[in-house]
Amino acid sequence: MAVLLPVISIEPMRMSDLDAVRAIDGRCYPSPWYKNAYVTELTNRSASYIVAREGDKIVGYAGQWTIMDEAHITTLAVDPARQGRKIGERLLITLMEEALYRNASHISLEVRESNRIAQSLYRKYGFEAKALRKHYYTDTDENAVVMWANDIHLPAFQKMLAERREELETLYRQRHSR
Ligand SMILES: CC(C)(COP(=O)(O)OP(=O)(O)OC[C@H]1O[C@@H](n2cnc3c(N)ncnc32)[C@H](O)[C@@H]1OP(=O)(O)O)[C@@H](O)C(=O)NCCC(=O)NCCS
Repeated sequence: MAVLLPVISIEPMRMSDLDAVRAIDGRCYPSPWYKNAYVTELTNRSASYIVAREGDKIVGYAGQWTIMDEAHITTLAVDPARQGRKIGERLLITLMEEALYRNASHISLEVRESNRIAQSLYRKYGFEAKALRKHYYTDTDENAVVMWANDIHLPAFQKMLAERREELETLYRQRHSR
């Protein structure tokens, strides 16, 4: 049976969201960020952080920064109880649109070598593995795969992004009109 896509809104992250964001962070990662790290990021003008809200509950969040023509995804997570419902994908599309709005041409990220689910999501959006950073994650001594999506400013990439957003919106409308 098809999973019902939740009604979510994607909004800028606010200081008042941090407890809920950190609760998800703690459920998704072995070493969640300290609150101060988020506070610093929320005051960083090169950065943009967003949350996915379902009703009054935060169910996911993500962040990126853009400097010159390069963007970097710093974090992306969905509440484990709400995964598999296209929330991660909608957050990623919004991050990439924000990077484009800020004139990025390339976007990178690090992901744990064992994290096949996230790598599959990133590959779907044009990211390719370009390097391995050995022992990057000190908590588990795991390697990081460095992934890049290049030339995201080109029309072909922006078309793909717009089509994916449209597909998700159509899927959402179909599932909610039944
Ligand atoms: C990675 C993560 C953000 C994906 O979010 P999600 O809302 O569960 O994923 P979505 O429903 O949007 O799925 C989008 C794509 O992700 C991949 N994916 C999601 N669940 C998957 C699964 N169980 N197995 C394989 N691929 C999967 C697929 O490519 C999927 O596209 P498809 O449905 O067309 O196959 C989420 O699993 C998560 O928060 N994980 C823990 C934190 C984390 O690892 N963050 C990334 C750090 S770099």
